[in-house]
This record gives sequence, structure tokens and C-alpha cells, in this order.
Amino acid sequence: MDTRQIILAQRPKGMPTAETFLVRDISLPALTDEEVLLQTVYASVDPYMRGRMNDAKSYVPPYAVGAAITGGVVAKVVESRNTRFAVGDVVVGELPWQEYSISSGKGLLKLDPQSGDHTAALGVLGMTGLTAYVGLQEIGKPKAGETLVVSGAAGAVGSIVGQIGKILGCRVVGIAGTADKVRMLTEELGFDAAVNYKDADFSAKLKSACPSGVDVYFDNVGGDVTDAVFRLLNDFARIPVCGQIALYNQAGPDVGPRLFAYLVTRRALAQGFIVSDYAKQFSEARAKLAEWLAAGKLKHRETIVEGFDRLPDAFLGLFRGDNTGKLLVHVADV
Ligand SMILES: NC(=O)c1ccc[n+]([C@@H]2O[C@H](COP(=O)([O-])OP(=O)(O)OC[C@H]3O[C@@H](n4cnc5c(N)ncnc54)[C@H](OP(=O)(O)O)[C@@H]3O)[C@@H](O)[C@H]2O)c1
Repeated sequence: MDTRQIILAQRPKGMPTAETFLVRDISLPALTDEEVLLQTVYASVDPYMRGRMNDAKSYVPPYAVGAAITGGVVAKVVESRNTRFAVGDVVVGELPWQEYSISSGKGLLKLDPQSGDHTAALGVLGMTGLTAYVGLQEIGKPKAGETLVVSGAAGAVGSIVGQIGKILGCRVVGIAGTADKVRMLTEELGFDAAVNYKDADFSAKLKSACPSGVDVYFDNVGGDVTDAVFRLLNDFARIPVCGQIALYNQAGPDVGPRLFAYLVTRRALAQGFIVSDYAKQFSEARAKLAEWLAAGKLKHRETIVEGFDRLPDAFLGLFRGDNTGKLLVHVADV
């Protein structure tokens, strides 16, 4: 059958552009034994994909120029020669940016047909929710009464980190890039305070939002934002370094973080992590997140962009701050 895919057309230097991607027509062969034909329903766009566009050693191999971009996808089985999957099953896995694709079934997880929720598996109950849970618990080790600051707070990972912090009894302060996001964090998600890092008096506002200093800093962003938080660290603070999105497209001057001397004077621990290193904790983490969701203690926000063709621009939107919560592209109905 004929379908369309989105390939990495060229490796970006600095910020990716429309020219980084190319949509092209391809033909899929007939299924062989064990294979399934999948129709993409939702595709996830994630900041880590920017790293995979570079030809550099990392924890995942780079995308090849001329090959389809791959990422988290929810898809429906439209044809099956695999006894584990029936036509109509909805699955999640790492799949190419294609309207239709063929899979051997390896790595695909079936979604619960009763739940009716086809997006949580890419967000709060998927990679980003698990990242929030394991990074905060395993490295942040927050205690009730401590102050937790989270950057990228209105995004997929950050919005869940802050809410878990509230469940665990912390004072939670979020950092985000618009007045609407700041309002959403305090008025809808229960953060104690939130600050816009684009405000001229950001550092002063952050300081007054953290009157007892910072015990745990969950860093999604890096750069100047992290410098501002480092100035407020308490002794023995813990810093899960989840991401550094401010640096991913950096082509110009260094944007920090520059204040590592604070790690010395505050005897603070900063540790980078990759969610997949904690796979053993996933089922416990997923169960806890699902329990909090069902109890209404955890809310999950999503921004859904419509249409396969808009995948590249949706991805670029991550760096413009277009999204609140998990950013997904809706490709087809279930
Ligand atoms: N370690 C891991 O295993 C792991 C797993 C998943 C994600 N991550 C990392 O976690 C971070 C958040 O990922 P996510 O999926 O939840 O994305 P996200 O926060 O939903 O989306 C990205 C957000 O980053 C903010 N942003 C973009 N450019 C920025 C800049 N220059 N300075 C400050 N903020 C900027 C934007 O919000 P504003 O409007 O607030 O600017 C944007 O909405 C990323 O750094 C990602 O790489 C790590």
C-alpha cells in the first residue's frame, strides 16, 4: 500500500527549520509472518528528538539523514499476521513518523481497550510521566516541607513533577515562559507559586517565591534559569538534571549554567539521568501515577495539534513554548 513518511532531510545547525524535514510518498510491502500493519493515531513530539538530529554519540543513536524520524506513537492494528495482535487493537511503541507502518510487534504494548484513553500512554502514563516520577523520587528525594523548584514547569514532565511534589507535601514553585502558564500552574495545578523566566525581574521574583531557599531543583531547562535557581540552593540540595532545552539549539554564545561553585559551597548533588535507566521502577511508577490520576490528585494537560503534515512544525513548537502539558499530533481517529 502507499503511505507517507517524514524523514530527516538534513542535520540542523542551531534551530531546526522546515527544511530539516521532508514529507515523502512510499510504498509498503505485503505483510510477512509475525508482522502487523499499523495506522498512526497519535504521534509524540519530544525535545530529545533534537539531540538525535545531531551526528553525535549519545544514549540513543542519531537519526540517519534520509530515513524516517521515529518516536513514541499510538497506532491501531489494521492488519495482522501476528497472533499477539488482532485487528482493532490499539498499541503504543517506538514507530516511524508515517501514516501507516509495518512492525514485527517487538516493543509494542497493547493499550487497555476499557480505558478509552489513547493519549495518556504517550504522556502522564508514558515516557514523560515516568521521567517526572523516577527523576523526582530517585534523585530529588523530596521530603514534606521542603521547597521544590521545577523549570519547564508547564510542560509534559514539569507539570507532573510539580504535582507529585505537592502530593508529597513540598512547597512547589514552577518556572515557565508565559503569564498564562504561570497562572495555570497556581490556579489549576495547585503549585504554591510560579514565576515567568522572561520577566525582567525574574530572579527577584523567584527569590521571593522561595523564602526558605531551594531543597530540590528539577531542571528541565538549564541556561540562565538554572543560574538563577543555583543562587538560592540550600545546603545538601538535590538537583535531578532531566533536560537542558535552552541549550539544544545553541549556536551562539554559551548560556550556562555557570554557577557550579554553588554545588561546592552548598554541598549540593546534581545528577543527570535518562528515564530508561529506571525501567525496573516503571510498573510501580505507572500504577502510582494511575492511582493519583483516578483520585483526581494529578491532572494531565495536553496540547494536540491536528494533522500528520503538521508534525515538523509541532516539533518546532516545543522550542517556541507553544505547548502546555504533553504535545501530541493527532493523525487519525481510532
Ligand atoms: N532525562 C530524560 O530521560 C528525559 C525524558 C523526557 C524529557 N526530558 C527533558 O525534559 C525536558 C522537558 O521535556 P518535555 O517533554 O516535558 O517538554 P515540554 O516541557 O513539554 O516542552 C518543552 C518546553 O520547554 C520550554 N522551553 C523551550 N525552549 C526554552 C528555553 N530556551 N528556555 C527555557 N524553556 C524553554 C517551553 O516552555 P516555556 O513556554 O515555559 O518556555 C516548552 O513548552 C526537556 O529538556 C527534555 O529534553 C528528559
